[in-house]
Amino acid sequence: MKFDTPATTNPIDQLKVVGQPHHRIEGPLKVTGQAHYAYENNLPNQTYGYVVGAAIAKGRINSMDLDEARKAPGVIDIVTAENAGDLGKGDMNTAKLLGGPEIQHYHQAIALVIAESFEQARAAANLVRVDYAEEKGSFDLEVAKSEATKPESGEPDSDVGDFEAGFDSAAVKFDQTYHTPDQSHSMMEPHASVATWEGDKLKIWHSNQMINWGTNDLAKTLKIERDKIQLMSPFVGGGFGGKLFLRTDALLAALGSRAVNRPVKVALQRPLIPNNTTHRPATIQRIRIGAGEDGKITAIGHEGWSGDLEDGQPETAVQQTRFLYAGADRMTRTRLAVLNLPEGNAMRAPGEAPGLMALEIAMDEMAEQLKLDPVEFRVMNDTQVVPDTPEQQTSDDDSQAKRDEGGSKALPFSQRQLVECLHQGAERFGWNKRNAKPGLVRDGRWLVGFGVAAAFRNNLVMDSGARAILGADGLVTIETDMTDIGTGSYTIIAQTAAEMMGVPLEMVSVRLADSTYPVSSGSGGQFGANSSTAGVYAACVKLREAVAQKLGFNASDAKFADQQVSSGNRSLALKDAAKDGEIVVEDKIEFGDLGKEKQQSTFGAHFVEVGVDRFTGETRIRRMLAICAAGRILNPITARSQVIGAMTMGVGGALMEELAVDKRHGFFVNHDLAGYEVPVHADIPHQEVIFLDETDPNSSPMKAKGVGELGLCGVGAAVANALYNATGVRVREYPITLDKFL
Ligand code: MOS
Repeated sequence: MKFDTPATTNPIDQLKVVGQPHHRIEGPLKVTGQAHYAYENNLPNQTYGYVVGAAIAKGRINSMDLDEARKAPGVIDIVTAENAGDLGKGDMNTAKLLGGPEIQHYHQAIALVIAESFEQARAAANLVRVDYAEEKGSFDLEVAKSEATKPESGEPDSDVGDFEAGFDSAAVKFDQTYHTPDQSHSMMEPHASVATWEGDKLKIWHSNQMINWGTNDLAKTLKIERDKIQLMSPFVGGGFGGKLFLRTDALLAALGSRAVNRPVKVALQRPLIPNNTTHRPATIQRIRIGAGEDGKITAIGHEGWSGDLEDGQPETAVQQTRFLYAGADRMTRTRLAVLNLPEGNAMRAPGEAPGLMALEIAMDEMAEQLKLDPVEFRVMNDTQVVPDTPEQQTSDDDSQAKRDEGGSKALPFSQRQLVECLHQGAERFGWNKRNAKPGLVRDGRWLVGFGVAAAFRNNLVMDSGARAILGADGLVTIETDMTDIGTGSYTIIAQTAAEMMGVPLEMVSVRLADSTYPVSSGSGGQFGANSSTAGVYAACVKLREAVAQKLGFNASDAKFADQQVSSGNRSLALKDAAKDGEIVVEDKIEFGDLGKEKQQSTFGAHFVEVGVDRFTGETRIRRMLAICAAGRILNPITARSQVIGAMTMGVGGALMEELAVDKRHGFFVNHDLAGYEVPVHADIPHQEVIFLDETDPNSSPMKAKGVGELGLCGVGAAVANALYNATGVRVREYPITLDKFL
């Protein structure tokens, strides 16, 4: 089904099941241990692999001595680049998943030791001797920044009007630089795989967000046909972007299983995760804002620097600045330095999450400089069209002329309720009780502060397919390679099918995350919920047509409700359509150019109250509120859980998370969840989430958008602004640890 005109009224709009607060349907499986995560698949005769990571950041392996390890008890084989055979490389990773002899980053996998037990594999791994030729690398973004260049892909420079002139002539000017650190996804379930070969066919359970990408890249790396691989990931214990791409556990389990001709289980050891896998790259961001005395922004410029391996990608932290606030003279720049740290890549809301950590402090600082309330300063600089419209990026004369005509080409937003989010949030939070002068509100030994930030994340859509099956028992089964990474995909997909086919939720069975199922959007970029349910919608439209035809109805006026199909006063049981055999159909949603006619974005506002111990600098979150406007909310329970989790992650980003860089040897020092801290329940006493009423006919037939990343965007700055309001100390370097107040 092509989606190239805005959605009109359709069966989803009944909202009998969709939009209702259903608990996740796979929840009982999870709490009773029946949901098998990748590593929990146990196969007869299985073996255990233990990954050896490189001990240098850059250089070569002179030689590897495996003799001692091979002789260790229980060892069956050891896979290295030398004996693994001819390997290709997938499209998604920058560095090789099995390194050697060249080493591209610290803890790049260089061997898999396979033994009868996990303990034996681990013990033998310690006996692998490697002689390295270490080379000098570049590990310090602050230093490498001066040689950063314009990245070849990912984020064009953008210019509207004349930023430099506009900023120079502004009545009120603001110019500051912010730092965000490298961050680790640190999901609960480590990267894990179980692989087994049946002849030339590979069967693999691999904890992964994007089944199709993973399967394609595994096929390319192993140099085999894609259809020789069955990759499954029915349950995923968190991803946050760290499992978007094939990882080394999958490749090594596959290679290991081929070598020993038995199933191999590999869970990437927790201490390898920060350096072996990807991370969110650190950024340095300079923001300049020029405004009139009235508080209207006239010029806004945002420059972002980050680093990655050669041929890597930038962190696109300037993204949102092209969309969020009005202002005639604008500029964004993204610059990328070569660093020999581990590979950087997407982590929840790549771009906007670190970008707003800077921009939304800058807005708070500028509001104070202008003596304006930070909520009102944002409201007065709202815009209902994209202020940096893509057409305006080109520097050709034609578009310059159009710009001079008064921005008639400016792209409208399909929905934009930023002002409503800010106003409703202020009202509900009790923003009027904030003391604009910092450091004055006390509660015992605690200095108390309020902070606000806008939330913004673009809404992406991805083509998504599904198979819909009606059984003779009336059960509707959906099969799609969509993943559920803890987000609620099973539930919203079941709700979609139930609504479309007129059956209760219990009469829908959802099968996910198998590479033999139709290719879906997968889970990433907060595109999963809207895209994958739209794909299920498309398949169900087809199933309705097939059912109607079978039962002798006219598909266009047949009604599907209460497990019946009816038209006029004729009514038949839905299951009758399948009594001679199940009906199987398949379709996908293919998104056209609607996003080019209207900008699809999601908006929100975060409000935070903090306490800071006035003697020790210890910080506490006291309460948080998020108001989100993100299209139709498919399930208020699972959507709320997404936002609450994201807000918690935002607190981690504000106060705790930081991969500490060893700038001499080029690695992240903190290797585990003791050294890389994330918030726990006790850190977040009170959270509230409110969704504004919104449907977006341009997003899909579901009229939904994403919330999973929106919930994180802006949180860090809201916390930072609250800490400033509490203390009068402005910290521009995350995480905001207590030493920064002393
Ligand atoms: Mo998200 S960083 O696209 O999983």
